[in-house]
Amino acid sequence: MIQENKIAEYFNVVPELVPFIPELLTDLWELGSSPELILQWIHDFGLPPDLTRVLDVGCGKGAVSISLAKKFDFQVKGIDFFEPFIKEAEKKAKEFNVSTLCQFDLADMREAVLSETEYNMVIYTAIGGVLGSLDQSIGKLRQTVNEGGLIIIDDGFLKNSERIDFPGYRYCCSYKDTVEQLTSYGDQIIKEKIFSTEEIRFINQQNTDWISKRADNLARQFPRQAELFYDFVENEKKECKIIEHDVNCAVWMIQKM
Ligand SMILES: C[S@@+](CC[C@H](N)C(=O)[O-])C[C@H]1O[C@@H](n2cnc3c(N)ncnc32)[C@H](O)[C@@H]1O
Repeated sequence: MIQENKIAEYFNVVPELVPFIPELLTDLWELGSSPELILQWIHDFGLPPDLTRVLDVGCGKGAVSISLAKKFDFQVKGIDFFEPFIKEAEKKAKEFNVSTLCQFDLADMREAVLSETEYNMVIYTAIGGVLGSLDQSIGKLRQTVNEGGLIIIDDGFLKNSERIDFPGYRYCCSYKDTVEQLTSYGDQIIKEKIFSTEEIRFINQQNTDWISKRADNLARQFPRQAELFYDFVENEKKECKIIEHDVNCAVWMIQKM
């Protein structure tokens, strides 16, 4: 049983807001990841469809998992501890006709990664330090894939030398330290994409507009909780500011050696 306070802590909200998170995020399928980029990289890599098993750790509503199953017929298992997202991922898999290729499990990734093994690829996109610092995360993620397997991480590094005191960003460090940590087990970075501020700003603007509209609707329906919904929007805006000003968002494809 996953406790609501763990969910509230992760989303940086008070527990009373948790039941409203799905509604606030209704219009976002990708919750921070870039499925198109990952699809392009995987296409270039040419993995065999029927033999490829993918683990998506913190899969959210399954945007990456379902895109991989749809495009390459890979078998995908997504893990997330927020039940409404798992349900939404299952619904989307049906919509895209890939239910037989996808399995979505409600679980805490900190436990799940200890027993999941023998995948060809593991995805860890926009998770923000749940498995610890990047070297700790790599250490846990690489155990889930075979030798030669791929680890895809969507994270970021500091634009300047200051640390960021905001949930999910406390492990963020310089580019040099980030690369050192990503390769600390001797694995090789084979692809890297660093997003421009303009690319990030465009996505942030769209997401903030969607969330603000949902918050307005909820505030009309539940006026006594209006402040909670607007706090959520404010927090989102704060995070957007951080990822536009203080962080370079990036994705890496790493091969386990
Ligand atoms: C920002 S979302 C990213 C979702 C997805 N990877 C994507 O890129 O669209 C982070 C996800 O991690 C999940 N999460 C956070 N902590 C978790 C934990 N301890 N175990 C499982 N899932 C967790 C959240 O529920 C959320 O769906």
